[in-house]
Amino acid sequence: MISPLSALVDDYVFDQLLPPYVRNRSPRYWTPVAVAARVGALFRVHGARKVLDVGCGPGKFCIVAGSLCSELQFHGVEQRPRLIRHGNRLARYFGVTNIRFDAKDATLVPWDDYDGFYFFNPFAENMFQAQDRFDDDASLSAARFGSELLRVESLLARARVGTVVVTYHGLGGPIPSSYELVANEPAGTNRIRVWIQGPARESSWAWLEEGDGALRVLRNDVGRTLASLAAKGRD
Ligand SMILES: C[S@@+](CC[C@H](N)C(=O)[O-])C[C@H]1O[C@@H](n2cnc3c(N)ncnc32)[C@H](O)[C@@H]1O
Repeated sequence: MISPLSALVDDYVFDQLLPPYVRNRSPRYWTPVAVAARVGALFRVHGARKVLDVGCGPGKFCIVAGSLCSELQFHGVEQRPRLIRHGNRLARYFGVTNIRFDAKDATLVPWDDYDGFYFFNPFAENMFQAQDRFDDDASLSAARFGSELLRVESLLARARVGTVVVTYHGLGGPIPSSYELVANEPAGTNRIRVWIQGPARESSWAWLEEGDGALRVLRNDVGRTLASLAAKGRD
């Protein structure tokens, strides 16, 4: 019997609770427990109360962050229903009541309910080679990648002042220029960045996360810059 407490501090122990096909992909696909704990703390420090995990997989981030930050609400939305079934099972196992999971397209649920958004590069899989994709359950494509990134940019642009966005391995696309990068630290196999929404503004540029930092990119150049960053990543 695995102790719930040890699973909240050790990836190996947590991942043992997942079936092999989900566990085997954990290092690449699911937030490590130490990163989840840190991201939860950053949401709390920056004043978020209700966080949407955009593409929550089997719920590892929500379960760890929700267990450690009981005053926050975490809502995980995932396109693959069978992962949500594991998330619900694990939430019951850990007895966490401040988290909720739904099987839906996370870019199509209303975002005005939330003051925090977590992205572990959820849309990048659209651009993966077939053998690197998690499974065949989701229909993925470059066209979907482009349209989801544009939808997310516009949803984030409309978010309330003070909205907290945390990325791990980046969001994967443009972040509106109204956001300020307030924290940027190494974590796990990449970086955690914290962005806070300021007053809305019309702007000709957007942020793109790149390497250790973030670039200001003219809106007209976003597509081209993303393509060249993706090519660099494949080299
Ligand atoms: C890299 S995993 C991160 C999982 C989880 N957030 C974590 O940190 O452990 C990205 C997840 O996003 C999901 N996803 C991608 N696009 C989605 C969308 N539009 N709606 C819902 N889920 C999506 C994928 O199926 C995958 O499970």
